[in-house]
Amino acid sequence: MDKFRIRGGARLEGELPVSGAKNSALPALAACLLTEEKVTLRRIPQVRDIRTMEKLLSYTGASVEDEAGTVTVQADGIQNAEAPYEIVKTMRASSLAMGPLLGRCGRARVSMPGGCAIGARPINLHVSALEQLGAQVEQTHGYFEATAPNGLRGGEIHFDRITVTGTEDVMMAAVLARGETIIRNAAREPEVMDLAALLTKMGARIEGAGTPIVTIQGVDRLFGAEHTIIADRIEAGTFLLAAAITRGDVLVTACMPEHLGALVVKMRLAGAEIAEESATSLRVRCSRRPRAVDIATEEYPGFATDLQAQYMAWMTVAEGISFVTETIFENRFMHASELARMGANIRIEGRQAIVAGERHLTGAQVMGSDLRASAALVLAAMVAEGDSYIDRVYHMDRGYERLEEKLNAAGAGIERVVE
Ligand code: EPU
Repeated sequence: MDKFRIRGGARLEGELPVSGAKNSALPALAACLLTEEKVTLRRIPQVRDIRTMEKLLSYTGASVEDEAGTVTVQADGIQNAEAPYEIVKTMRASSLAMGPLLGRCGRARVSMPGGCAIGARPINLHVSALEQLGAQVEQTHGYFEATAPNGLRGGEIHFDRITVTGTEDVMMAAVLARGETIIRNAAREPEVMDLAALLTKMGARIEGAGTPIVTIQGVDRLFGAEHTIIADRIEAGTFLLAAAITRGDVLVTACMPEHLGALVVKMRLAGAEIAEESATSLRVRCSRRPRAVDIATEEYPGFATDLQAQYMAWMTVAEGISFVTETIFENRFMHASELARMGANIRIEGRQAIVAGERHLTGAQVMGSDLRASAALVLAAMVAEGDSYIDRVYHMDRGYERLEEKLNAAGAGIERVVE
């Protein structure tokens, strides 16, 4: 298993370019199952979760070509309308195949996702929404078996709580259903809007994506299309925090500043200078310890849960005490005990972490528990005194494209130790 050895004390300077969004690329790839024609997707990040989704598409019988981030998928015949256990167990987002397979083939067999490091993460809301569209879903042998022998029909859905991939799954099912579907309490994430943009290019009729009410008029078939994935706002946010924690001066390029509002406001309050240098780049400078500033994670446009761990890493060296509240996932503080190994002072009380800023962190051996927790440890290690070793780098490889290469180009001292 690969490790990172990180030399502490670097100051990041230069440019950090942002890749395409993993969480936009995943539903976009699943959407390719909705047509027998060729779909070309550009700016697909080269990360492990994408490989897994490509494997899933191939398993269904689709042909998939990935040429340095330009992916062409043709699902002209679907032999297996299934997301098997071997694939789902490595990536929960495989449940995104359920909606499109059901819409296209009238059936889908999807392994039930198991537990996860950040929470239980069930997909009950996806399932009950698909039932509202006329699917019959049974749970047997660890699988959801969904059928709609006469095709899906439009329906009215109200999500009891906001779910990102649930909204995406149902949108993909509804585009080929008969009649109108209304999704209420829909997720407003930019990734949902990006999926709607792709589906619209494929011939779908969708209104309201990016608002809490999405309306879809079903069509008979979808067609081939070309689409470029939006910039990864979580990678961009991680870079802003990496620059700030190292008291650096960095231009984060190829990003979409409009998707980073909640983070930028908090970072400015904490003392970082952040300026839009162009429509696609943000300059971040920070020459001092941050002030302690509280955050609470929320659905978009609130503060992203996927940036909570990295923000907490910054607050561990702040002046004062900050409260970090996690409202989306029930168990997303695994990084706190690892940060404590580096000298951070964090107390967890239910959904709240109370972070008392320290002047210094010290290098230590730590272990990543999930993708974003691992990124937080990288950030902390960059300011710690001495060397740190971060175990289980495979978590990082699931969702960050060439992370150590990009950070090293801006002055970080990260070495991948292959064991
Ligand atoms: N939930 C249910 N039932 C469901 C679906 C969700 O109870 O059927 C709960 C979840 O357990 C959670 C909350 O609702 O407590 C929100 O979960 P959501 O469904 O929105 O999460 P997701 O769609 O599974 C996506 C991202 C996550 C990101 C969350 C929240 C993708 C592929 N994944 O997950 O990204 O944290 O939205 O913004 O888009 C990551 O990239 O590191 C990552 C975990």
